[in-house]
Amino acid sequence: MAPPGRLPVPLAPLVGREREAAIVRALLDHPDVRVLTLTGPGGVGKTRLALRVAAELGEVFPDGVGFVSLAPIADPALVPATIARALGLRDSGDRDPVAALTSHLGAGAYLLVLDNFEQILAAAPVVADLLAACPRLTVLVTSREILHLYGEQAYLVPPLALPDLNRLPPLDELGQIEAVRLFADRAHAANAAFALTATNAPAVAAICARLDGLPLAIELAAARSAMFPRRRYWPGWSIGCRCSPAVRATCRSGCGRCGPRSPGATTCSPPRSRLSSAASPSSPAGSRSRRRKPSAGHG
Ligand SMILES: Nc1ncnc2c1ncn2[C@@H]1O[C@H](COP(=O)(O)OP(=O)(O)OP(=O)(O)O)[C@@H](O)[C@H]1O
Ligand SMILES: [Mg+2]
Repeated sequence: MAPPGRLPVPLAPLVGREREAAIVRALLDHPDVRVLTLTGPGGVGKTRLALRVAAELGEVFPDGVGFVSLAPIADPALVPATIARALGLRDSGDRDPVAALTSHLGAGAYLLVLDNFEQILAAAPVVADLLAACPRLTVLVTSREILHLYGEQAYLVPPLALPDLNRLPPLDELGQIEAVRLFADRAHAANAAFALTATNAPAVAAICARLDGLPLAIELAAARSAMFPRRRYWPGWSIGCRCSPAVRATCRSGCGRCGPRSPGATTCSPPRSRLSSAASPSSPAGSRSRRRKPSAGHG
């Protein structure tokens, strides 16, 4: 693959996933597996897992490992040209991109990562065509839904490991549990003063459990926690999105807890009513509680 549609480098380190990566690696290493789909809800970590595994498989696929982000496209007809462009093939106008791709990949041992396929599932036959024409090509797909291709293997990416809220382990063990570790890492990145302590650990564990171990939701919650560093923020904290239907349609967290959203807001946010113990004086919740009662003689 020239240049091998380079693997993007994530901005923050991966937490855990050793077991899942080993399973996916073993599947891809098997000569009978030509197409493997990592599936699961939005934000569960399909792309991150695919990137980790792809980065480790250079020796298994000596001719190249290529990455194609399909998230930006919504028209299945654009898939062949998008893959070709990502692999560095020049658009020659009159040449069919599938033909260009099959002649480029030929009999090479390539791994092609097709990321975020769910919105262009109608393009699944393109993958079948490439696999049929290129005998040593293997395709790793990430998609919230499987492609229903002949021979397709699917791996359901699980959420991050969670602590047992009824029996929390000692702090150092708790901090190693994937979901808690991700929260602590991201909260610390957003606010260097944050550290997992015996005081905040039960709340952090509860938040992670409430978010079902979904990495994207945990990241958002952790970043948000940095905006509310006061200790009294933690005890009553609860998470949810307040997205409008339009925003909800594009909500990629898959949290399933979207509620009404205030007009003009541009980012998902925990419901203010559930932040009542920490509502800042300038927030609507805070100002509502400070509004003066109308005087008796008025109106
Ligand atoms: N194990 C992990 N360690 C650290 N961060 C993670 C991990 N898994 C996922 N993330 C982060 O969570 C967010 C969502 O992950 P990712 O994009 O891989 O999810 P996805 O399942 O591909 O979602 P989508 O269906 O929307 O494409 C990203 O910011 C990613 O960096
Ligand atoms: Mg993804």
